[in-house]
Amino acid sequence: MEFVRQLLLFLHFIGLAVLIGAFVAQVATRPENGRYLPGTGMLHGALTQLVTGLALVGVLESGDDPVNHPKVGVKLLVVLAVLVLLVMGRRKPLAKGAFMAIGLLALVNVGVAVFWT
Ligand code: HEM
Repeated sequence: MEFVRQLLLFLHFIGLAVLIGAFVAQVATRPENGRYLPGTGMLHGALTQLVTGLALVGVLESGDDPVNHPKVGVKLLVVLAVLVLLVMGRRKPLAKGAFMAIGLLALVNVGVAVFWT
């Protein structure tokens, strides 16, 4: 089970890199008409975070250590907000503020993961 947890955590880090990497790459480009169509990488990165995060919770629940439910609950809400913005943005490109909120929320989740002990 420890190997499964490590593998999921590995994929969780890849998803984090893809989401934030794709965001940073897109911030560096000039948007069309001042509006941003979030790239596929951001969507795939966020979905990877959702799936691997939930699977990690499942694996941790089967172990002996207590799971920090409020912490994973906050991370879940944040990633769902990211996904809502991404789906909205792929239907109709987002204003700068909404697009920036996606990157900010992703960073919030890194902060929650690291500082909420
Ligand atoms: C943008 C979304 C997310 C980001 C950037 C993110 C980031 C991270 C990072 C950096 C870690 C490693 C630090 C640590 O182990 O404490 C981590 C671990 C973890 N994340 Fe996420 N996460 C996201 C979404 C989620 C979601 C939606 C869930 C579950 C609902 C989740 C559940 C977990 C769990 C359970 C761990 C701990 C793994 C362990 O201790 O073995 N994450 N996350």
